[in-house]
Amino acid sequence: MTPRKIIIDTDPGQDDAVAILLALASPDDIEVLGITAVAGNVPLALTQKNARIVCELAGRADLPVFAGCDAPLSRPLVTAEHVHGKTGLDGPVLSDPTMALQDRHAVDFLVDTLSREPSESVTLVPIGPLTNIAAAFEKAPGIIPKVQEIVLMGGAYFEVGNITPAAEFNIYVDPEAADIVFKSGVPLTIMPLDVTHKALVTAPRIEAFRQIGSEVGHMVAAWTDFFERFDKEKYGSEGAPLHDPCTIAYLIQPDLFSGRRINVEIETGSELTRGMTVADWWGVTDRAANAHFVGDLDAEGFYGLLTDRLARL
Ligand code: RIB
Ligand code: CA
Repeated sequence: MTPRKIIIDTDPGQDDAVAILLALASPDDIEVLGITAVAGNVPLALTQKNARIVCELAGRADLPVFAGCDAPLSRPLVTAEHVHGKTGLDGPVLSDPTMALQDRHAVDFLVDTLSREPSESVTLVPIGPLTNIAAAFEKAPGIIPKVQEIVLMGGAYFEVGNITPAAEFNIYVDPEAADIVFKSGVPLTIMPLDVTHKALVTAPRIEAFRQIGSEVGHMVAAWTDFFERFDKEKYGSEGAPLHDPCTIAYLIQPDLFSGRRINVEIETGSELTRGMTVADWWGVTDRAANAHFVGDLDAEGFYGLLTDRLARL
């Protein structure tokens, strides 16, 4: 089977880092054309640096990393150091990256790459705020038909919000960008908190990462150990949700996940419910379905896949 061509748009973030590693550990399934960094969990200067750290950890200093938008389309940036730490990759001690950042802006990389690729041939995997993706679609609408699918981490419905009572962080940070993407007509697969909150990184699962015995295993165990403390305290759960790797695992083994094709729209007007993903799960409107909204996963299968693949790096 020909590997699926993807671009990962990211705001590392410990869970972003694990998603990138999973993709780079799966070359038979996924060809990563490039990584575009966006401001989100931490400011852009850190997310682009963190993306390069993760690429070097995976032995992929050859992979082009681009810096994108340093703020949402029309709102001030909101960050999440309280979850990810000041660096965005708190947990282990990390050295600065040596690989260079690409000079081109991430939005130009997205436009140039999609412009030259055949129709419906590239999958976009945004795992942070959707600012870069929306900016590229606004700059060059002709690239939209080149996108095979957008598989994104974001939103929430039955699980409600994590940054406000109504909204999940990625969508909350740039709701106008999300609105552009959700109305673009591109086939959407959404990994909301409804499913990621069932993908809890428990102590035995962290130990399984550590037992891999490699630097990758050590780093992922240290990142997930750090990342876990916030959600465990907040939700009292036996572990933190490992959000972003759900997108990559879906590309590798979609039958681990289940959901429903429904209409999902984004609240951009109200400050109270800004960034809410209004998911018509029960079909009570006549709004056209625009997204595969994923609600469940085989968590054991997910962690088995993740651990096996990380051991390959
Ligand atoms: O709400 C979870 C999402 O916000 C994840 O992508 C996490 O990395 C942060 O970006
Ligand atoms: Ca993220």
